[in-house]
Amino acid sequence: MKPPGRPLHFEYRTDADTNGGGMAADVRRGLQSDPKRLPSKYFYDARGSDLFEQICAQPEYYLTRVELGILRRHGPDLARAIGERAMLVEYGSGSGVKTRLLLEALIDPVAYVPVEISASALKQSVEQLAARFDQVQMLPLCADFNTRVALPTPRREPRSVLIFFPGSTLGNFEQTEALQLLRVMHDEMGAQGAALIGIDLKKDPAVLEAAYNDAAGVTAAFTLNLLSRLNRELGADFDLSQFVHRARYNAQAGRIETHIVSRVDQQVRLQQARIEFAACEKMLVEYSCKYSLPEFDAMASRAGLQVTRTWTDDDQRFALLLLRRGAGPASTA
Ligand code: AVJ
Repeated sequence: MKPPGRPLHFEYRTDADTNGGGMAADVRRGLQSDPKRLPSKYFYDARGSDLFEQICAQPEYYLTRVELGILRRHGPDLARAIGERAMLVEYGSGSGVKTRLLLEALIDPVAYVPVEISASALKQSVEQLAARFDQVQMLPLCADFNTRVALPTPRREPRSVLIFFPGSTLGNFEQTEALQLLRVMHDEMGAQGAALIGIDLKKDPAVLEAAYNDAAGVTAAFTLNLLSRLNRELGADFDLSQFVHRARYNAQAGRIETHIVSRVDQQVRLQQARIEFAACEKMLVEYSCKYSLPEFDAMASRAGLQVTRTWTDDDQRFALLLLRRGAGPASTA
């Protein structure tokens, strides 16, 4: 517990713009391209983040539960493999419970550095953790984790950097972007460092499709909330009753592809532009890539990384992987 009266001091560094004007330009570009697409990172406004929490509680969406189970069951083993006095760097800060479990398991962690583009999400995550882990220095970094950032220097010297990227969030990126992100991790972890990455494993397509089409319709609401956000924040006029959520497993590509499909021929206004939708036209909003362990090994090695440990559940649904710099090609990209 934090001793009463000790002031909380956080440094809010802003190494990147926090993406105010970025969304309008991204959305315009995406809706004017053929086929249309929208970046999945814009799902997470306040309502979207709330709906995502609800997705995690749906019986069909096994990912979060299974990953938490792995963290709980293998915490001590993970901590030994990582080593003492790590500086924990998390890409994104949306996973309070996972971070707490990891910090509880780690041996004498020195600092926690969430790298997150949303200042409000950052603030919330460190304030909760600061109250619980008074030996861990909180160093939130307001930045886009896709770009290399200078990591802060904590008061106590860390033995290593541990980059934490849970939730199969890497699966939202296309191959080349995922590879680029692994290269950023390679560069940021340093010689003694490691990355702990959560990935969803390939399995029966029916199980995968159910996870993204829950019976209660929460995922559909989550997907369509993106259109509400565009209406509210960009003055668009999407009629939500005229679009539907569709998530299918593309076995060839090894990923769930989520689209928003137009029910009818229609026009939507977006600022000065008018966007035409044909009946049944689909707009890509998310990839959720699924991996086999050998495939992931191959991708990691292309980023100069090696999978040194693998923790999984009894049914091999999900895996937590520990990656370190390998003998392979060093990253310079
Ligand atoms: C948090 C991005 C990993 O792709 O499984 C859940 C987001 N989308 N249901 C995923 C999501 C629809 C989730 N990630």
